[in-house]
Amino acid sequence: MVTLLESEMQPFPRVDYSSHPAYVSAGSPWSLSDDRVERVVTEIDAAFRDLLAGADCISDGEEARFNAAVGTRIDELQAYVLGTGGLTGRIADYSARAMKLARQALLDEWKFQVRSHRFRYQPVLTAAQHRKLEILKKDGVVCLDPIPEVASHFWDKTWWERRLMRRQADRLPWGRCAMAIDPHSPAGVMLQRTLRRVGVFELAGAYLGCRMEFLYAALDHAHERQAWYKGCYADVGMGTSETAYMHLDADCDIVKAMLYLTDVKPENGAFRFVRGSHRWVRSPFLIALYKGFDCEQDAYFERAQNTLDYESGYYRPRFQAADHRRELMCLPSSFRGSTHFGDDVIDGTPLSKQLLASEDVLAGSHGTFVLFHGAAGIHRGSQVSVGERWAIQIAFRASKERSERPPRYVEERLASLRYHFRRLKRTVLSTSEAI
Ligand SMILES: [Fe+2]
Repeated sequence: MVTLLESEMQPFPRVDYSSHPAYVSAGSPWSLSDDRVERVVTEIDAAFRDLLAGADCISDGEEARFNAAVGTRIDELQAYVLGTGGLTGRIADYSARAMKLARQALLDEWKFQVRSHRFRYQPVLTAAQHRKLEILKKDGVVCLDPIPEVASHFWDKTWWERRLMRRQADRLPWGRCAMAIDPHSPAGVMLQRTLRRVGVFELAGAYLGCRMEFLYAALDHAHERQAWYKGCYADVGMGTSETAYMHLDADCDIVKAMLYLTDVKPENGAFRFVRGSHRWVRSPFLIALYKGFDCEQDAYFERAQNTLDYESGYYRPRFQAADHRRELMCLPSSFRGSTHFGDDVIDGTPLSKQLLASEDVLAGSHGTFVLFHGAAGIHRGSQVSVGERWAIQIAFRASKERSERPPRYVEERLASLRYHFRRLKRTVLSTSEAI
């Protein structure tokens, strides 16, 4: 059981854009009351927390309860922000989209909490797993026993995927380079077997209080030519922030792991986690809203050819584009934010110093295996200043079923055949293109 120290009850960071050099010239065109917005946000958060506190005695009608307690208050806030004297034009449309996603995210979290109380997942852990669980609860991140032999096997089994990714890195050197591992590929099958063998599902499940299932694994190639996180405020003469790419994922039912396939020094894009930040006090509604704004960027900015990045070359285009920056300042001040806020923290400020001082740099040799609560804790990685890093990012999701589905051998065999057919077809096509 983790007991909160007073020093750990710190608030989650909020960037003051009105004093940020890239935003000061825009002023604060929001003309309605910030205090009123703050008050309704506080009411939404309080109603949501009350709802969660009673999640253990709910048997049905989750959505109706949510709508009555929380949804009506979100409606009230939306009516004020978008009503007479409030937002208009593109930023009004953008805000409406973000608020819709925020509402859905809170509803999903509420349903997840009800489900986890109903299922009461309590795996039997070894003494070593208990120790890891306590570290995970306290720090939000824990190093598991290294698995170098698995990393080596995975490396060998992904020769085809790595070849495609190296080509992609040459085509778009500044962009991100990641590929989902087909769960039915040789590497995907081996990885899932390993995860079961080493007990990660039980550990992640004990942490979230829910039986976990495999969601995805993605191979990530980070290298020194990448620039997708650089230069947000270059137009106003500001360099890339020391805290750039610090973020949280804000997915309530997901726990993640990172497995290094190569030896990783700090300069090779090591994974970093701000220790204990998963417990910092925050507004559930505002975090969900920031995620809503982040997700809805796609309605206003074109994706690059790799679908991971944007045409502009920077991963948060709404903070880079001058017209969107002006519109950000039209929002109530508490609405201005992002789950990926690190780029907006000014170097040398107390907040920047605090974040950097609490950040663990998880360098390690190949086979280093880390489990972390990226949904709530501040983390980053893949920012290479020298060389490269190959790693697998793995996501576990809370299952909606009480027990595991029995294996379906025929379906899995067919899926494996489909993977090999796709691989053969792409190899033949790329060979004929090269001739
Ligand atoms: Fe993340």
